[in-house]
Amino acid sequence: MRMTVIGTGYLGATHAACMAELGHEVLGVDVDSAKIDSLKDGVVPFYEPGLPEVLTRNLEAGRLDFTTDYGKVAEFANVHFLGVGTPQERGSYAADLTYVYAVIEDLVPLLEGDHIIFGKSTVPVGTADELQKRADELSKPGTTVEIAWNPEFLREGYAVQDTITPDRIVLGVRRGETKAEEVAREVYAQSIADGAPFLVMDRVTSELVKVSANAFLATKISFINAVSEICEIAGGDVTKLADAIGYDDRIGRKFLGAGLGFGGGCLPKDIRAFMARAGELGADQALTFLREVDAINMRRRDRVVQLTRELCGGNLLGHRVTVLGAAFKPNSDDVRDSPALSVAGSLSLAGADVSVYDPKAMDNARKVFPTLGYVDSIEEALEGADVVVLATEWQQFRDLDPQAAGELVNKKIIIDGRNVLDVDKWQGAGWDIHALGRTL
Ligand SMILES: NC(=O)c1ccc[n+]([C@@H]2O[C@H](COP(=O)([O-])OP(=O)(O)OC[C@H]3O[C@@H](n4cnc5c(N)ncnc54)[C@H](O)[C@@H]3O)[C@@H](O)[C@H]2O)c1
Repeated sequence: MRMTVIGTGYLGATHAACMAELGHEVLGVDVDSAKIDSLKDGVVPFYEPGLPEVLTRNLEAGRLDFTTDYGKVAEFANVHFLGVGTPQERGSYAADLTYVYAVIEDLVPLLEGDHIIFGKSTVPVGTADELQKRADELSKPGTTVEIAWNPEFLREGYAVQDTITPDRIVLGVRRGETKAEEVAREVYAQSIADGAPFLVMDRVTSELVKVSANAFLATKISFINAVSEICEIAGGDVTKLADAIGYDDRIGRKFLGAGLGFGGGCLPKDIRAFMARAGELGADQALTFLREVDAINMRRRDRVVQLTRELCGGNLLGHRVTVLGAAFKPNSDDVRDSPALSVAGSLSLAGADVSVYDPKAMDNARKVFPTLGYVDSIEEALEGADVVVLATEWQQFRDLDPQAAGELVNKKIIIDGRNVLDVDKWQGAGWDIHALGRTL
């Protein structure tokens, strides 16, 4: 099939390359010409394991191309995927839908014939219906544009696998006459044949599926982090507790990793946008618990800063602190709302001399927080540290040798912000190790 992908960021570039990998002919479009030049050259402008290989393979096969020209998009195909950003609006909790509407405004007047736009961006409930109205107003006489919603569940770090073999495909279609299901079944034929559940519903429900999934995941993380706060005061061990409750298969161990909490370009803004939309619908009480989920999450960042201060004798001024990690999670270079970078920034603003090291996210981190001290290696980061904070659980940090690390630092004090280090090993090497939710 021929199709276009509009917006080639983390979601769109992955979707475009993976659709080509499945045998489709794909044209990606973005307003960012530097991003398009890079993708055309076979260079993925962000870190995503496996994606560079998929990109180059499909560029070379001639199934994949990129452009900044909406005219070409309109001519290239009748099936379009919309994957532009929906960030948090400035000064409110709501999602900023400027980019989503801009696509409809710019693309629809150029279309001729029958087209389907599958929205993949995460949007507030009701957006697809509104976009349909706008598309109907903007389309040329004789041209039809159907809006369907096909929310994306990929995880950064596993994006290729999640796109090629998704754990489910959700499709929201309009009531009445629709061609979207038939077309989506063709687009995703391979994944469906491989066993991916294909769930068709109305557009409103499909929009709610995505935000509900993220709200649930955020709630699960904040639940264990709330219990973690109690463990810290009462003297318990949240990791043993999580193991014990996780054996109950109604609960499950996944997403019960107590630590520095969630961040990134999705969970924080999505739960806020969900609350904002509930308020607009007159149902704000239904989601007030998400405010608490958000607050618990933010308190974990404060707790790490406070603990670091205590370990520096009550004052961070002049102390050398190493922060291991800048990405919001391992296997990604994404620093949007990163807990690691938030902690590093707060420590620095409180007077600490902060060294940050991350295997992949250094360039992005520098752009967001240029005043922090960035170093090129883990060894350089550890050199002379008074306190080390493990903030993102990269494998490289999990594998750190406490003996060798101990020879580089000024004081052998470490805060395991992700509960991933072997406590006995670190204590055996003479380290004073602290972890969230545990008394060690
Ligand atoms: N990143 C993820 O893991 C992920 C997972 C699921 C869902 N989502 C959702 O997908 C959407 C995109 O997220 P992302 O992480 O890829 O964001 P991103 O910021 O990496 O990418 C958005 C892209 O859209 C482009 N863009 C903006 N306006 C445009 C326009 N008018 N025409 C063409 N391109 C335009 C931007 O230049 C940018 O390249 C968001 O709604 C997000 O919540 C993201």
